[in-house]
Amino acid sequence: MTTRPRAAIILAAGQGTRMKSPLPKVLHPVGGRAMLDHAIDAAEGLGCERIVVVVGAHSPEVGAHVTRRLGAGAVAVQDPPLGTGHAVLAARKALHGFDGDVVVTYGDVPLLRANDIAPVFAGNGVTVIGFEACDPAAYGRLILEGETLAAIVEAKEASPDQLAVTACNSGVLAAPADLLFGLLDRVGNANAKGEYYLTDVVALARDAGHPTRAVFAGEDAVMGVNAQAELAAAEALFQKVRREDLLAAGVRMPAPETVYLSWDTEIGPGAVVEPYVMFGPGARIAGGARIRSFSHIEGAVVAAGAEVGPYARLRPGADLGPEVKVGNFVEVKNVAMARGAKANHLAYLGDGAVGEGSNIGAGTIFCNYDGFNKHRTEVGPGAFIGSNSALVAPVRIGAGAMTGSGSVITEDVPDGALALGRARQEVRPGWAERFMSAMRARKAAKG
Ligand code: UD1
Ligand code: CA
Repeated sequence: MTTRPRAAIILAAGQGTRMKSPLPKVLHPVGGRAMLDHAIDAAEGLGCERIVVVVGAHSPEVGAHVTRRLGAGAVAVQDPPLGTGHAVLAARKALHGFDGDVVVTYGDVPLLRANDIAPVFAGNGVTVIGFEACDPAAYGRLILEGETLAAIVEAKEASPDQLAVTACNSGVLAAPADLLFGLLDRVGNANAKGEYYLTDVVALARDAGHPTRAVFAGEDAVMGVNAQAELAAAEALFQKVRREDLLAAGVRMPAPETVYLSWDTEIGPGAVVEPYVMFGPGARIAGGARIRSFSHIEGAVVAAGAEVGPYARLRPGADLGPEVKVGNFVEVKNVAMARGAKANHLAYLGDGAVGEGSNIGAGTIFCNYDGFNKHRTEVGPGAFIGSNSALVAPVRIGAGAMTGSGSVITEDVPDGALALGRARQEVRPGWAERFMSAMRARKAAKG
């Protein structure tokens, strides 16, 4: 079978009022990625050569978001929103000259992946993705006559018999572009909502002798988000699937239900992730690394044999080499740590590099910010940074160099040198003893 060119129209012009949020609904994240981006990912995964997102005039942020990712040509504005059929027609101009199959999806259905959608392209008439609903509620009902999908009836228009049908419309529908737009030209709005229903094209296609059918997907995969509680439910489903994927790939997670993953979290087989770990976007953990409890990791790379946490924070640009150790209450941002380097306790390493095998003492701070600009701290290989050192960037600590505990280091330290940047200790023999007995006597005299 030859595959015809594919295009996607992603509907995202709804108001999303039930989210009760200043953020437009489709920009709410699931797994750390906007729901709309999940929908675009699915369209790209299907090999769609054209993708058009239909946005409302009420939220220009959505159009801006799409423009950043796909270019301005991918945005179609529907103003005012007069229904799903009307929304698809708003994308017609953007698809001018396209000859192939079009799939319509929603920007607020974040769990639907390319694999779930692909079967809609198998026919040459109108195909929709249906699902068996636990609670069909307000979903459109699929009226099936054997293999043929005779019609989709919206809940508000349905008879009691039709309402009893549990086969429902997910909203995903595909058809050849010319057929789809031709049918939509004939859809009216004489219905309960006074809207132009996309779903009406099914009966029109069937009456005109085109094949119409439904393919079925799981209810979880087609779940739509309309309110915060549904967003949380989608997040829970997303996490469940991602955790199962990682466990199946050989990641050890003794309490997977406490580990939070991002859409792009990569963890290699044989890595261990202890309970209560949070991954933000952009984390790459090699097999054989160990992430201990209560660590927060985003935009960071961790190599094999490295150990992070408990209670560590890796921020974007943290790049931990093999056998590196980053311990409790250590924050690392934009610092590459070479093989075997250690920062075991209570430190901030921001903007710089730590050479192979270096030891960063407890309480060390890379003072990277002067209030205006960020500067780098370079620590050479085999260096030893004494506890509570403040390394004031820009500064370079040479290979095999040391800093004394409590030092404030403002100048470069040559290879192999010891740098001390602290007040010299003074000892006054007997002073404390004399002072204390004088104070005791004074207090006794007072009463
Ligand atoms: C729609 C389907 C219904 C299906 C359900 C699945 C129609 C007529 N009904 O109903 O059969 O069971 O989805 O969730 O298609 N949108 C626009 N412009 C508009 C109206 C909607 O872009 O003018 C977008 C919304 O942002 C949303 C999607 O289309 O992403 C669905 O709209 P919604 O109003 O939620 O449709 P339902 O009534 O739920
Ligand atoms: Ca809906």
